[in-house]
Amino acid sequence: QTPVIIDTDPGIDDFMMLLVALIHEKLDVQLITTAPGNLEQNQTYENALKMVSYLGKEIEVARGLNKPIFKSLETAPDFHGETGTGNVVFPKSNFPGSIRTAISAMYDVISKSDVPITIVTSGPLTNVGLLLSTHPELKSNIKRISMMGGAVMGGNVIPTAEFNIYADPDAAELVFRSGVPVIMSGLDATRQAFLTEPELENIRAINSDLSDKVYRMLKFYQEASMGSPFNVTYFEDVVRLHDVCAAAYIIDPSLFSGNFYYVTVERNSPLTAGTTFVDYLDTLGRQPNAYVLHDVDRERLVDLFIDSIRSYELA
Ligand code: BDR
Ligand code: CA
Repeated sequence: QTPVIIDTDPGIDDFMMLLVALIHEKLDVQLITTAPGNLEQNQTYENALKMVSYLGKEIEVARGLNKPIFKSLETAPDFHGETGTGNVVFPKSNFPGSIRTAISAMYDVISKSDVPITIVTSGPLTNVGLLLSTHPELKSNIKRISMMGGAVMGGNVIPTAEFNIYADPDAAELVFRSGVPVIMSGLDATRQAFLTEPELENIRAINSDLSDKVYRMLKFYQEASMGSPFNVTYFEDVVRLHDVCAAAYIIDPSLFSGNFYYVTVERNSPLTAGTTFVDYLDTLGRQPNAYVLHDVDRERLVDLFIDSIRSYELA
């Protein structure tokens, strides 16, 4: 089992990532921290707690920062619904959240761990960026950071920038500069992580409470993404499991192919702030600081996702 901390802003595809991470036996989720992003902190925190409780797990959920480091918060309720669940209702959580802040809980888990911890992120990097800059001594006990964020080519908020990096470029830059190995699941890869209509129907056919919730959330996400910037470059009415990729890479890296590049975040330009500059032409001649995913074995990724839903019901 790989010990992981998850930092997330649920969000529909974050819920999908959480369900895979919490159900798959390869991951030992030791802590979940919540980021401001798709929705405000109160909502992402409540959603993470509800998901953990719904799946019958007892994992500490700690509240993160309320806003990005310098920017003001821009949320995305159009894609995820006002409560982040695409109007699907989850029961109230029946266990309390942590009394610690995200940063102090992460500090504690990482510093006390006998083996280096993996961090999986599926939202803006505010919590993790601040953790690394305030506690650089922890870096030697962080094995890697697997993040959903960025793009080599083509954004989804502005033409060049992906939402998680755009939302807090300063935090993302702290992560890329940290020296901790980074795996970047950017849009280049995650756009390939889509579900077809028959696959959505396969989920529905599992016919459990979980599969019913998943199906309805994904349908909302699919409809919300149609004709939106998510699809400008690829005119397909498909639903994508962006955030699932960051956890799936840790479960089975053979699902992906990628390459090492130097990555830095543009933060000053009024037009392109939040863009990941992935130096795939090696124009700067710098040491690579991230493993950037290029391609996904889509069918095997979808199998992993659907198997998680199925195996939970069998448990
Ligand atoms: C990312 O943006 C968010 O809306 C999704 O949850 C995902 O993390 C995709 O750009
Ligand atoms: Ca997310």
